[in-house]
Amino acid sequence: MSDTSLTQEPVSSSGSAGAPAFDLQKITSNSDGTITGMLLAGFNEVVVNNPYFAAGGGLMVLGTTLALARLGIVRTSGFLYRQMLVDLEIPSKDKSYLWFLEWMSRYKHRSLRHLSVETNFVQHDNGAVSTKFSLVPGPGKHLIKYKGAYMLVNRERSGKLLDMTSGTPFETVTLTTLYKDRYLFSELLGEAKKLALKAREGKTVLYTSWGPEWRPFGQPRKKRMLGSVILDNGITETIVEDVKDFLQSGDWYHKRGIPYRRGYLLYGPPGSGKTSFIQALAGELDYNICILNLSENNLTDDRLNHLMNHIPERSILLLEDIDAAFNKRDQSDEKGFNSGVTFSGLLNALDGVASAEECITFMTTNHPEKLDPALLRPGRVDFKVMIDNATEFQVRKMFMRFYENEDELCDQFIAKFKSLNLKSVSTAQLQGLFVYNKRDPKQAIEMVDTLKNPYTVF
Ligand SMILES: Nc1ncnc2c1ncn2[C@@H]1O[C@H](COP(=O)(O)OP(=O)(O)OP(=O)(O)O)[C@@H](O)[C@H]1O
Ligand SMILES: [Mg+2]
Repeated sequence: MSDTSLTQEPVSSSGSAGAPAFDLQKITSNSDGTITGMLLAGFNEVVVNNPYFAAGGGLMVLGTTLALARLGIVRTSGFLYRQMLVDLEIPSKDKSYLWFLEWMSRYKHRSLRHLSVETNFVQHDNGAVSTKFSLVPGPGKHLIKYKGAYMLVNRERSGKLLDMTSGTPFETVTLTTLYKDRYLFSELLGEAKKLALKAREGKTVLYTSWGPEWRPFGQPRKKRMLGSVILDNGITETIVEDVKDFLQSGDWYHKRGIPYRRGYLLYGPPGSGKTSFIQALAGELDYNICILNLSENNLTDDRLNHLMNHIPERSILLLEDIDAAFNKRDQSDEKGFNSGVTFSGLLNALDGVASAEECITFMTTNHPEKLDPALLRPGRVDFKVMIDNATEFQVRKMFMRFYENEDELCDQFIAKFKSLNLKSVSTAQLQGLFVYNKRDPKQAIEMVDTLKNPYTVF
């Protein structure tokens, strides 16, 4: 008797309808007798030969295939994207971000549909200031054409992150173009930089501290001519020569391992031209000025250190009224009057400026006697100059600058000035008198005695 002979007629269903019954006999007969064989045969019976499972399986295979195909397309397009396209990300913290937006504002392309406005103030030759609106690409995607290549510009805000220093949202501009045109990125940025720097040509940028970074303060100002600041005989030339010599001595400093920095202290009474001279000097050297107010409320040692080590290139660091923050009382462990900067913090920051680039620091004060000697030691202050009240030399030069070719009247002015025995007249006072009488030198001579009172308001 064969095995099969023992089997009963296969039961096709346990009832009239429903799922086929599980037939152990059939499975046994289809298998090779081993456990694995029986399991395989069971799988065949339940899954393959079962129409319900077969249909479900078919759908599953179809679904999986489609999913894999989709994944394949996504991966392939991602791969092709990476191979064929190239992105450039410009975060708002980077210098070139503003350059790029400025460049875009001059870009007249019809595809720019979403614009945003940036309002600037422009200083004219006569000193008047007018408002200028620049339309820059707003957040979103813009397609532009640059030197024959298409570029997608995507300006987007980075979520809800705020730039704590300015309170504005972080932004990124992403440029996308074909891989073969990637060299155009640097050309575009170079062009944007050139454009931005051209707008600043002949101007001095004043930077102030803004959180941990330096930000331009207002619009770049017209350079002040060195000749417009009249210091006593030879002082201008001596300082300018010293600074220029320093700027040419980089190798000398590096070879000797001396930090490449130089500190200047200009001290003297108010209105003698200290600040004006530094501005004119910056103009002469084609430098910008970073002004740091040590009495600032939320300035700490860490911030001071960070700021002093991140001065924008070609900038003079200017610490004004240095005595207002600290005086001779030993404050090495105490805080300044208002700020969180300690005196030792300032000394460390001055010593620690470690950059390959040159660092020129100018400090001003009306009260040098109040300064701690530690601040005045060489390395921190290498060059001290007194900028005093007007001498005869300065009075004469200023008069002639205001009233050209009036030599005779100038002599009269000086004679009267001397006869009144005026000792402490500031150059600012003289300027006030001459501006008041700008077209009338004789009237200026009449009014010389007003200079007795330093607080005369014309
Ligand atoms: N030596 C000078 N030559 C030409 N202008 C001067 C001179 N000194 C002062 N002035 C004029 O007086 C005004 C004040 O000058 P400035 O601010 O440079 O003085 P300061 O020495 O920095 O004063 P303070 O010590 O109060 O800061 C400016 O408008 C400047 O043009
Ligand atoms: Mg000043």
